[in-house]
Amino acid sequence: MKDLANKGQAISLRQVSKFWDGEPAVDSVDLEVAPGTFTVLLGPSGCGKSTTLRIIAGLEAADQGEVLIAGQVVNQLPPAKRDLAMVFQSYALFPHLTVAENILFGLRVRRTPKAEQQQRLLSTADLLGLTDYLNRRPSQLSGGQQQRVALGRAIIAEKPVCLMDEPLSNLDAKLRNTMRTEIRDLQQSLGFSMVYVTHDQSEAITMADQVVLMRKGRIEQSGSPREIYENPATAFVASFIGTPPMNLIEAEALGVTAKDITVGVRPEHVRLSDTVGIKARVEHVEYLGADVLLDCRVGNAKLLARIEGHANVQPQTDVRLIWNADQMHFFDGTSGARLHDVPEGFGVVTN
Ligand SMILES: Nc1ncnc2c1ncn2[C@@H]1O[C@H](COP(=O)(O)OP(=O)(O)O)[C@@H](O)[C@H]1O
Ligand SMILES: [Mg+2]
Repeated sequence: MKDLANKGQAISLRQVSKFWDGEPAVDSVDLEVAPGTFTVLLGPSGCGKSTTLRIIAGLEAADQGEVLIAGQVVNQLPPAKRDLAMVFQSYALFPHLTVAENILFGLRVRRTPKAEQQQRLLSTADLLGLTDYLNRRPSQLSGGQQQRVALGRAIIAEKPVCLMDEPLSNLDAKLRNTMRTEIRDLQQSLGFSMVYVTHDQSEAITMADQVVLMRKGRIEQSGSPREIYENPATAFVASFIGTPPMNLIEAEALGVTAKDITVGVRPEHVRLSDTVGIKARVEHVEYLGADVLLDCRVGNAKLLARIEGHANVQPQTDVRLIWNADQMHFFDGTSGARLHDVPEGFGVVTN
């Protein structure tokens, strides 16, 4: 296979908007994908991920703004001229064609010389572990193998940009984990630029160089997985990232009379204490093996604590919860924006 390493192209969106019936599906989006990097568009259903991806692909036209690939404005270019490959959720293999024919479809359309077709087919099949299945039809393959055929069809084209829209959502959890790693490895070894859509935050965190979290057509925050996890820019981001996501509690529920402030603490940062800390009632206990999830009530607020699995806590008991001061996040209670200074009253939290 031709070495695509470092051949990925930059992608930029500049103030891109798309309206349906006057409502913005994509709203003033600015996006930079560095060459050869993996960007994940993440967000709840309907937030505009697919529309953004389809605008990059050229399957939808932007109503406003510019789309650039490799520094060139491509707004007027049809999809076939944008030099990119795409994989969708429904991988749409041709049922009557063999695996080999499915993978080769695009090259045949483009009348690539036969010898080159064969050589690229063999190296693609080898890369994806499909060598022994080339003469089968899609119906004779498992879901994961079918997904690999769809990947093969995309990567055999050796394009500098690859776009994927929820390509793993039809697979079971175990296979999804394996395929995440495979896709990430392929992208790393071939060096193309990837824009990958998912609503699954753990998928985004494990695969991305850059996570772009969208909400209602807008970018809420973009950054490395670590930045998004450690420094969520808004309460929305905080509530979207993590397994389970961050607890968001009104300051008053923690016994601090700070006005209109939401306090964020991740479940994995909450610990049990014998003597100090917030008084809480354990309502439910969910055993996860390595961890235990304690579903607690603090006054009128709910708080999830994820603690080590060997801790023996019974439901309907009272406990005390603590966390490190530097593991607290503060958000404006109205706008949700992150507050960078520790609000008054949060030096020590006890009740
Ligand atoms: N072809 C279309 N016609 C009208 N509305 C659409 C169309 N495609 C998407 N939308 C709307 O645009 C918004 C964003 O959709 P989409 O980009 O598919 O979101 P996501 O992929 O994040 O789930 C949604 O409100 C959706 O209903
Ligand atoms: Mg979608």
